Amino acid sequence: MAYINNEIKILSPATVANVSCGFDVLGFCLDNVGDEMILRKTEEKGIRITKIEGYNLPFEAELNVAGVSALALIKDAKPECGFEIEIYKKIKPGSGIGSSSASAAGSVWAINELLGKPYNTTQLTAFAMKGEALASGSEHADNLAPVLFGGFTLVKSLSPLQILEIPTPFELYATIIHPEIEIKTSESRAILPKEIPLKNAITQWANVGSLVHAMHTNDYNLLGQSLNDVIVEPYRSKLIPHFNAVKTESLKTGALGVGISGSGPSIFALSKGKKTAESVAEAMKNVYSKTDINFNTYVSKINTQGIKILN
Ligand code: HSE
Repeated sequence: MAYINNEIKILSPATVANVSCGFDVLGFCLDNVGDEMILRKTEEKGIRITKIEGYNLPFEAELNVAGVSALALIKDAKPECGFEIEIYKKIKPGSGIGSSSASAAGSVWAINELLGKPYNTTQLTAFAMKGEALASGSEHADNLAPVLFGGFTLVKSLSPLQILEIPTPFELYATIIHPEIEIKTSESRAILPKEIPLKNAITQWANVGSLVHAMHTNDYNLLGQSLNDVIVEPYRSKLIPHFNAVKTESLKTGALGVGISGSGPSIFALSKGKKTAESVAEAMKNVYSKTDINFNTYVSKINTQGIKILN
């Protein structure tokens, strides 16, 4: 595919990592919520970030997640040209729906397109992990993989990097509420125990296995029963005001399951059908409108495509 003026405009989507029981391995991709980015080939080699709108982020490529991942790619590809990046940031950093991953994945995906696709999606994930590491201090792929592959993904291993694509039941919708409080990923990782009881580990891996089985067999009931996290949620939920009320009310309204999106503060629910997902959004709003915390909600089909080219 050729791009006019060697330029491409993309929507790099938000994502939900962990998906309750799959801490650091599972993730899924949201639709219509994401950062817009324009990438352009330049005669001058290297990476230049020429515009950032939405949030105050560094322009130096070495200090910006989109820049760092792009630099990792061009270090390997050694192209005859350079690239300019414009970032129209819509996903608030620190919201728990993969803000840094959208930027890190978007730049490498777009550069790969402009270069004629020399790299496969797993290779792009590896470059993007360099940018993600700048934001979170460690190389995760549970948000990056669903941006780049779309749908639900499972990071089977980081070394070697191996990512599995999990089928998405067609009627599955996500509801997200983003309470505007700040939770740093590094802090919400620091409160987690280094060791866990075997009993909890057994419950958790049974849930991960049955969640993946439910996705393959379109078994919405099993999917709901599997969306439980006995390891991380008990610690992190304390950082999110009204988490328990949001969970209880969403489940009462018909959500299949409810959990913390990534490291929070966003909370996600999965539902069968858009109508239920919209009712769940109302239930979530009802909880937070009684507080003085500002919030946003989104209802989204699962985005099985990942990054999209915009006209
Ligand atoms: N799996 C990561 C966490 C996602 O929950 O800490 C946020 O980077």
